[in-house]
Amino acid sequence: MYPELKPAIVCGALNPAVDKRLHVPKLSIGSVQRASMQESTPGGKGLNVSRAAASLGVQVKAAGFLGGENGEWIQSALYESRIGQEWLYVSGLTRMCLNIIDDSSGISTEILESGPEVKAEEALEFIGRWKALSEEGGWMTLSGSLPKGLKDNYYAELIAVSRSEGAVTVLDTSGTALIKGIEAGPHTVKPNEEEFRQWTGADPRNKAAVQQLASELALKGVKVLIVSLGKEGCIAATGDGELWRAVPPAVDAVNAVGSGDCFVAGWTVANARGFDIAQSLRLATAAGAANAISSSTGKISLADTAKLSALTTVERW
Ligand SMILES: Nc1ncnc2c1ncn2[C@@H]1O[C@H](COP(=O)(O)OP(=O)(O)OP(=O)(O)O)[C@@H](O)[C@H]1O
Ligand SMILES: [Mg+2]
Repeated sequence: MYPELKPAIVCGALNPAVDKRLHVPKLSIGSVQRASMQESTPGGKGLNVSRAAASLGVQVKAAGFLGGENGEWIQSALYESRIGQEWLYVSGLTRMCLNIIDDSSGISTEILESGPEVKAEEALEFIGRWKALSEEGGWMTLSGSLPKGLKDNYYAELIAVSRSEGAVTVLDTSGTALIKGIEAGPHTVKPNEEEFRQWTGADPRNKAAVQQLASELALKGVKVLIVSLGKEGCIAATGDGELWRAVPPAVDAVNAVGSGDCFVAGWTVANARGFDIAQSLRLATAAGAANAISSSTGKISLADTAKLSALTTVERW
């Protein structure tokens, strides 16, 4: 579908993780057990976006903080997947997130480390790296929660740097990082329904409220507000008053974790390719749905995305 690799997009992955999946025949607390299967993948929301964007055929560069041997492992795994990288090595250790699956019941138990605490001087140095990446003037994503040690306006600082260099940012986070980030005017913000309700107290299906909010966000520089709604797809509102809605086909979802990250990848790739809003919402929605039908988190194929794209409805809302 998209043979050439250009343009490049940059995916901010400030708190990446080694996602380790261990299968045990039957989990029992307090005993020694052997894993029947184990697999590690680079994880965290920013790396999910970078992997999905690479699957859609663009050049990708992941950027953020890494530390210690988990960091080195991520670096070599991404190298093998041909994802470009721009890491600042920090003194702390990159986190490991453990998912233990009990094969007898299929129940999974997750234990998430919190990751390294980023020091003030490390935070400052990374802003310089981000500025250099922004000079290309391309599309950049910022996803997930901020690592410990960073102030909650850190995304706002990165967005401001990108804007001053002529680059375009897509922000997908929650809580105060979202509220503060918006003040710097990212091009797109993409909360899911729960994050949107937490942020605004409004119902994302209330057209008037969404339109009003989009016009307020436009004053800060936000061009598009998208709220993703799981299997219902998404709604989008532009600063100039347009309302859109995209709905994926009904699919047999096996694991929708990371669908939002794949949505962000689809949206960003489409925009970087110069697609219009309807085409971009279509690719984004289809990429999210493609993730839902795959058992691995944040992993999509171009073939599934293309198939689902043709079955996705996009219309004015
Ligand atoms: N069950 C599903 N069936 C079809 N498409 C889905 C399903 N779940 C999600 N999607 C697609 O993925 C997009 C993003 O999903 P969702 O709103 O669940 O994101 P999210 O909550 O931000 O996910 P995450 O943060 O785990 O990545 C939706 O807009 C939709 O296109
Ligand atoms: Mg999300």
